[in-house]
Order: sequence, then C-alpha cells, then structure tokens
Amino acid sequence: MHDPIPALLDSLRAALGPSGLLTGPADTAAYVEDWRRLYRGRTPAVVRPADTGQVATVLRLCAAAGVAVVPQGGNTSMVGGATPDDSGRQIVLSLARLDRVRAVDPRDFTMTVEAGVTLKAAQEAAAAAGCLLGLSISSEGSAQIGGVLATNAGGNNTVRYGNARDLVLGLEVVLADGQIWNGLRRLRKDNTGYPLRQLFVGSEGTLGVITAAVLKLAPAARETAVALCAVASAEAALDLFGRFQAHDPGAVTAFEYMSGAGIGFVLDHIPGTRLPLAAPAAHYVLVELATPRRDAGLRAGLEHVLEAALEAGEVTDAALAATEAQRAALWRLREEHSEAQKREGASVKNDVSVPVSAVPAFIAAATEACLALMPGIRPVPFGHLGDGNIHFNLEQPKEADAAWFLAQDHAIMDTVNAVVRRFDGSFSAEHGVGRLKPYMMPEWRGGAELDAMRRIKAALDPGGILNPGKVLG
Ligand code: MLT
Ligand code: ZN
Repeated sequence: MHDPIPALLDSLRAALGPSGLLTGPADTAAYVEDWRRLYRGRTPAVVRPADTGQVATVLRLCAAAGVAVVPQGGNTSMVGGATPDDSGRQIVLSLARLDRVRAVDPRDFTMTVEAGVTLKAAQEAAAAAGCLLGLSISSEGSAQIGGVLATNAGGNNTVRYGNARDLVLGLEVVLADGQIWNGLRRLRKDNTGYPLRQLFVGSEGTLGVITAAVLKLAPAARETAVALCAVASAEAALDLFGRFQAHDPGAVTAFEYMSGAGIGFVLDHIPGTRLPLAAPAAHYVLVELATPRRDAGLRAGLEHVLEAALEAGEVTDAALAATEAQRAALWRLREEHSEAQKREGASVKNDVSVPVSAVPAFIAAATEACLALMPGIRPVPFGHLGDGNIHFNLEQPKEADAAWFLAQDHAIMDTVNAVVRRFDGSFSAEHGVGRLKPYMMPEWRGGAELDAMRRIKAALDPGGILNPGKVLG
C-alpha cells in the first residue's frame, strides 16, 4: 500500500522551513512521552509552525494525506492527552512557537494571547497591565494557554474565578480541514447561535486546534492574606471553609486541603521545604484571601476567623504569611504535591469531584474502599476543597513493586469511582479524559450524551485525524 507519510513530510518541510520540522529521534524524544511517563509513543515528525497560517497549512496537508495529528502545548497532561500512540504514524503538532501576547486591554479587562504562551507568562502580562488572570495551576510555568483551554484546566482559583472555560470570551481555531475560524471577539454579550468556543474548550484537541484566545481579566488584588492551618479532620476543614465564606464570601481565592501523608512526602523529597507549624498534623488547609478593595483589612479578618476556629477546636495551629517569600513557601508545600508523590514511588491518580459538602464523607469512604482493595496502599487525598475537586491519589504500598502496582490502575480507579458515583460526582474533575480514561466514558456518559459527542466529532473531524484515541477512545 502507498505510504503517504514521506511525501507529507516533504510538503511540510517545504511549507514550514527546516526549523519547523523535527524528525530525528533525539529531537522528538521529549514530545513522545507524557509528563507522568505513563505513555511513550513514536512519531514520524514534530511540526512547529510559527503562526496560525502555518497551523492551517499543516492541518490542510495532513487532512489531505489522511495522517493523524496530535496537538501539544507544554506537555503537562495528567491523562496522556498530548502523547502520540506507538504506531509511529501520528504527527505531533507543537504550538510552542505561537508565543505572542497580542494585546492586553485594562479598560475592557481582556487579553488576547496565542496558544504557545505559558500560563505564567500570560499571568505576568496581565499583572504588568494592572490586571489579574484568575487561573492558577501547579504546572503553570510550563503549561501553555492552548492546552490549558483545550483541556478546560481548573486549578487553585476555581472557587473564585471558575475554570478555564469561564474565562474565555473568544477563540481562534484551525479546523480539521485547515479552515481558520477567527472568533477572537471581546464581547461580554454575544447571543448569536451556538457558542462554538465552548465546544473547543475542553475538547482536548479532538475537534480543532486552538491557536489564540481572548481571556477575561479581573482587577488586580490590592491585598492578599495566606495561611497554612493544621485542622482536626476533613470535616473541620469543611467547617473552616464555611467560616471564611460566611465572613467575606468574595475574598476566598483558594481553599486547598492536604493530608498529613501528602505534606510528609513534600517535606521528605522537595529540598528547601519545611513545615512552619509546631508539629505535623493529619490534615491541613491552605487558604488564600485576596481583594481589589481598598482598606479591606484582610489579615485582621483572617486572624479573626482563625481565632474562632481555634476556639472551636477545628484549627489546631496556623502559620500566616507575613511576606511574599513566606507566601510562596506556603504555596510550595501545596504545589509540589505531584512531584513529591512521583519521587516517593508509583502512584495512581484519581482527579474526582463531589459536591463540596460531601468531600469529608467521600474521603473517608474512598479511603476505606482502597484499603480493603489493597492493604498497605497509601491514600494521598489533596486538592481543591473549595470547589469539591479532590485528587484522591494512591501511593504504592511501601514494599510493593512499582510496575505491579501500576498494572492495578484500573482496579484502583474503578474502586474510587464506585465511591464517587455514590456521591453523584465526576470521574474527571479538571484533568480531562485524554488517553487514560476513554474506557470510562460509556459507563459514565453513555447513551444520548456520548451519542451526541460522537456526532459532533464526526461533523467537525470526518476523517478522524485530530488526536485519535483521546476522549472518545
Ligand atoms: C494539582 O492540583 O496539583 C494537580 O491537579 C494534581 C495531581 O497530581 O493530581
Ligand atoms: Zn488540581
């Protein structure tokens, strides 16, 4: 049979120039393995277009040749969403060179950024204009806007600003056949037919390739207050959340739960971290308050709430950040959780959500179910308590073989998901479906919902060239 790939590579090289195409195994190695090292694929080439027009050319040529394309941003997917399979026949499309902040408008509170801008660079550009981009995730230094939107990332500030989807006003997208849709509108109201942009946000590169976006900004914070608290239990953490919400509902920007196990791994494996409390605890909360209001007295409010919670026995100890460096050190204890778990050994992630009020009961029930499945397994629940998204990660039993443990991943995920179902939750709160979880879709989203998704996929990508094997399987 005629192999279309050699001629396709020639056309791509001619269209993009030599710097737009990587083919040697050493040059492509970093693009064919996911961050978690769950998947290693093969690719005939990584294409690196320099602008939207070149992305359109890539898709037009690949569609004509019937060759699949795997879009990739910062390659920080937790579910293998940006990794090619091992057929050696999927082209990786890196958006990294589309790295311009096209505009920041502090009057409209919008910014227009290209797909390859890292989330951190976008936050910094917004801050330089006196604004705030209200999205923050642990991988923001590497994660790129295109991937952040394609996966509808959530993160630490969802409780205040929503998920990536809630921050998108407009999009520029290249469709599977190479057409460019310029939907970079900056409007707060635009009620004109189907909201196409929301279809591409969260589609994980299976419906089109996002090349730029208009994001909604917020006023920059004038005051911030952060504390790490040792709390008596997960219920106490929820009660503390209620206290902060009752005191000043608009001020809570992050409310993160961490277990003693998770903080222990960070202290053991991440150099330069230390616990700023008198003694280790079994449960912790990291709370951040922020406001653009003048003279809001956030720190006094924080102390007031914590004193009442100490008196009630919910909080047993707390450390308040007095400087920006202390604030960063407290956040580091939270943000290094994934890296520390990786260094401790093999772990299976469950990025799940339940109603906020059900989080403590969920943690207790999931812990019991996992210990019954595998004695010695080490649950590491942590994450975004303020929005009900818990990372119910499980670390291998101490003496177990890592490969044996990882081979049990479906049994472990299914055990956790059975508990999630009892609480009417979701099997993927913010990481998406990627390549890891399509097998869950028929059970969780089957019937009319999955049928509608398949029809949308067939309509927008009839040749099935966009990120095959992801989301729908
Ligand atoms: C985080 O919030 O740090 C990541 O989403 C977590 C993970 O490792 O599951
Ligand atoms: Zn998270």
